[in-house]
Amino acid sequence: MKHHPQTLGEFIISNQKDFEYSSGELSRLLNCIRLAAKVVNHEIRQAGLVDITGTVGNVNVQGEEQKKLDVFANNVFINALTNRNIVCGIVSEENEEFITISGANNANRNKYVVVMDPLDGSSNIDAGVSVGTIFGIYRRISPEGTPVTLEDFLQPGNMQVAAGYVIYGTSTMLVYTTGNGVNGFTLNPAIGTYYLSHPNIRMPEQGRVYSVNEGYYVHFPQGVKDYIKYCQKEEEDRPYTSRYIGSMVSDIHRNLIQGGIYMYPKSSEREAGKLRLVYECNPVAFIVEQAGGRATDGYRRILDIKPEHIHERIPLFAGSQKMVEKAESFLR
Ligand code: AHG
Ligand code: MN
Ligand code: MN
Repeated sequence: MKHHPQTLGEFIISNQKDFEYSSGELSRLLNCIRLAAKVVNHEIRQAGLVDITGTVGNVNVQGEEQKKLDVFANNVFINALTNRNIVCGIVSEENEEFITISGANNANRNKYVVVMDPLDGSSNIDAGVSVGTIFGIYRRISPEGTPVTLEDFLQPGNMQVAAGYVIYGTSTMLVYTTGNGVNGFTLNPAIGTYYLSHPNIRMPEQGRVYSVNEGYYVHFPQGVKDYIKYCQKEEEDRPYTSRYIGSMVSDIHRNLIQGGIYMYPKSSEREAGKLRLVYECNPVAFIVEQAGGRATDGYRRILDIKPEHIHERIPLFAGSQKMVEKAESFLR
């Protein structure tokens, strides 16, 4: 008899060993994220039907226009995490300062902090392109019972206890790791349940896809230009195929499944690239490594870099191990 696939709830229960140091807090936290993602998913799926596309007329701390759905997703995640009293602090792309959760129920006794990009790729949303949510979870380093501090959020990515993303694509998937491999769950929207559809995701060591915004080619460092030419060269398994959605979660997700390299290098226009170390690169790097891939800034392992600011930017080269190593060899 064919068994029905495991649900996310069942999976969390049967993998309690992933959560051995926590008194159920980490599982509650993941439950909270999976619920908030359903709410965001429901809203996104109505884009075009109700008045939720377009901008709100604000510019966020990154100097980028806030989309209505950026604001919506940010509120949903923050409210869910605050109301359920699970974390003691949050860093979000959409908030200039970190958020301290305190007050009622002694929230500052909570052990975890969350960093998140509530809606990644939102500039695509008005064009019907997939977007995502990215999150990373850390155990606080400040003492429990005191307000969360900046240092709690400036831990290197190798201190993450869990990280993941939700992709609102052709289907909606939650992909996460607690440091024991990567698992992907697909949402059945009719009943609101996620099922384990992609157990133990392993990224091919070598893929055939490269993902980079080639519009910036002339602004890239010479090493990056040379690597792009290498990808295009007629030789052995090349030319590689170019695929760039412009929605990092979607580009990373495709490469995770099929193999490939994702690059957002620095350029003469953007000295540190565009992507944010704390809530974009670190969660993605944790997942990519846990799937057998590699994530660096071209020289250093992303997860070993100590952030100095919560909104700090960093170049990113992430994907199939051999492809990232090859790209690095061109930068040296
Ligand atoms: P966000 O929508 O959260 O601001 O992030 C968008 C990011 C990332 O998803 C994507 O890969 C990259 O910006 C695209 O940037 P370019 O348009 O410069 O290629
Ligand atoms: Mn983003
Ligand atoms: Mn965003």
